[in-house]
Amino acid sequence: MERKGLRCIFVLLLPLALESADIPVLNSTKDLRNIEFGHRFPRHGLMLLHFVSGGLNVDNDDTLIPTFLPERGDWGFHHFNNYEVFPQLQNQNRQGYYEVGNINTPTAYSLDPYVTLSYYLTPGNLERNMDRLVVRTSPNSPLLEAVYITQHYRRSSEYDHKNTYQISPALLREIRTLSQNWVNSEDVFLYAAGYDVDSRTFTWNCSATDSTYTVEDTGRMTLNESPAIMKGAVVNDHHTACYAVVLQVKSTESGYARLRWANVPDSLLDVGVMLALFNKDGKNLLSRSLDTRSYGTYDTNQYLNHGLQVKLLSKDGSDVFMRGPKYDDADRKVPVGIEGYDASLQLYTKDGYGCARLFIKKTFTDWKTDLRLKYSWVGFYTNHNYSSHCYYTYQYAIYFTKQDDTYDIYDKYDIYSYESSLSIQPGAQARFFLKETYDQTLAKTKPWEW
Ligand SMILES: *[C@@H]1O[C@H](CO)[C@@H](O)[C@H](O)[C@H]1NC(C)=O
Ligand SMILES: *[C@@H]1O[C@H](CO)[C@@H](O)[C@H](O)[C@H]1NC(C)=O
Ligand SMILES: *[C@@H]1O[C@H](CO)[C@@H](O)[C@H](O)[C@H]1NC(C)=O
Repeated sequence: MERKGLRCIFVLLLPLALESADIPVLNSTKDLRNIEFGHRFPRHGLMLLHFVSGGLNVDNDDTLIPTFLPERGDWGFHHFNNYEVFPQLQNQNRQGYYEVGNINTPTAYSLDPYVTLSYYLTPGNLERNMDRLVVRTSPNSPLLEAVYITQHYRRSSEYDHKNTYQISPALLREIRTLSQNWVNSEDVFLYAAGYDVDSRTFTWNCSATDSTYTVEDTGRMTLNESPAIMKGAVVNDHHTACYAVVLQVKSTESGYARLRWANVPDSLLDVGVMLALFNKDGKNLLSRSLDTRSYGTYDTNQYLNHGLQVKLLSKDGSDVFMRGPKYDDADRKVPVGIEGYDASLQLYTKDGYGCARLFIKKTFTDWKTDLRLKYSWVGFYTNHNYSSHCYYTYQYAIYFTKQDDTYDIYDKYDIYSYESSLSIQPGAQARFFLKETYDQTLAKTKPWEW
């Protein structure tokens, strides 16, 4: 009897032992300083880590509570199949590894512009898309078990084991606290983590000069010292000016693309630049001269669509100086959960119209015959302040159309969608109602941004 008991204990301990043996754990921002991951322009790993940590609550028991769902494909998260890098799963069917950070994919357009900025500034650079963040989901709950950072080898799709680390709950909490206490928390974090700001170099016309890869290991300031130092470091030369250029697609009041630009440096205005809009296939939809205006907005007659991108071109249109982020059709908002069901709702736009997606967990197969949902409907509102009966248009959930599995990332969800006649506009909202009355609102999307 005694022997049997001992063997059980041994088997239980084994998976834990595997996990801690392989991958070093980083416990504080200080530990980030001496690693290679994301530390030089145009690498994006530290920005990615800061952004994802901002969406992660860590409670006093070190439980990781995400506000996003990796399995739903939020921010471009997708299933990660490389089992050699990370500890083996104890339960293949109910746990999984999910990876985020590949900017070269349409599902990643929802990442914040500060994560994708360096990527769009440096076409062709080998280092601009090599950093990744990976999470392990837990069985039967939306909690995460672990967060890792890793990277590809240059010119390779293989993962670099030596540059793979686990991020401890304490470090995740530290980054999130920073996000809550600082307006420009990503800059403060980059500084504290030892990001080499001087590696961002541009020519006078704002093309990024090639970065040669070297790791600088000079001592860096601690978090407490950093603000004073940062003040001194804010303005140096036109590298800062080029990096600060803002190029954006937003929505007009009626579903068309509004182009916004800001901080265009004099070095570019002096030679003459054009603002141009491109679609997802790289087709130039329109161009117009900026004259001497370093900031402004321009309302186009182009429908809002996924993948629209603003660029700054030379006067004759032959050179591209700078590129903005690609437009996300869901306004960079993750879907909102439908209370009480394995489902979520997302507002998005196609050709300038307000559309809705229902993400239905594949295990919830019989949802269309579920009597409770028989009369459930989605209302489309021109303004989030309107009361429930003031919808612009609506559709019953059972009439939503199932989407093809275009992206194989959705291994756990089916997507159903409906294109309404509402023009997408700032303040617009979709709501999910359980019954043909207005009193049971199970989900409301965040208002479309101004
Ligand atoms: C982080 O903490 C763990 C557990 O206390 C320790 O084993 C590890 O060495 C620490 N990591 C660093 C980089 O100090
Ligand atoms: C931009 O600058 C680079 C290097 O400084 C130069 O080779 C290129 O011709 C410039 N492009 C234009 C359109 O002036
Ligand atoms: C909607 O409500 C917000 C406050 O919740 C208010 O600031 C805003 O002006 C309102 N907008 C309209 C169009 O009523």
